[in-house]
Amino acid sequence: MLNKEKNLADINRSLAALLGPETDWLANLANSSALLFNFMEDLNWAGFYLKKEEQLVLGPFQGQTACVRIDKNKGVCGTSYAQRKIMLVEDVNQFPGHIACDPNSRSEIVLPLIVKGQVIGVLDIDSPQPARFDDLDQKYLKEFVEILIEQTDFSALIENFS
Ligand code: SME
Repeated sequence: MLNKEKNLADINRSLAALLGPETDWLANLANSSALLFNFMEDLNWAGFYLKKEEQLVLGPFQGQTACVRIDKNKGVCGTSYAQRKIMLVEDVNQFPGHIACDPNSRSEIVLPLIVKGQVIGVLDIDSPQPARFDDLDQKYLKEFVEILIEQTDFSALIENFS
C-alpha cells in the first residue's frame, strides 16, 4: 500500500474510533474537520457547509475564516449540492464561478452529504497545491463521509424528518 493510501485508510479508521458511540451532529462534524485538517497533507481548509432552506451555510471547519453563505449552484460547493455529486477540481482558477474564500487555494474536493435521500450539506477540502486531490483521495473521502453519516444522528438537519 502506498504511504498516501495508508494515511487515508488510517484517517478513516481513526474517524470510526474518534466518533465512537457519539452521535451528536455538531460534535461529530467538528471533530471530523479537525481530523482531516491535521492528518491530510497540504491542506489550507477542511470543513462543512450545511443546507438551510435553499442555501449552504458555513458549519464546523478548520482553517482561515470563510464565506458564510453559498447559493445552490454557485461555486464548487453549490454545484456539488445541486448536482448531488463529488466535485474534484484540479485547478480552481479554471472552475467557472469558483468562490475564492482563501486566495491561496489552488485545488479543491467537495463531497455531498446525502442522508435519507436528502443533501444535508457538503464536505469541502481545499489545498494551496494545484491538483492536490486524485481518485485515491476521492475513494477514501467517500468512505469517510459514509462512516460519518453512519455514526451520526442528522435527523435535526433533515427537512420533514419523521
Ligand atoms: N471554494 C468554495 C467556497 C468555500 S471555501 O473554499 C471554504 C466554492 O467555490 O464553493
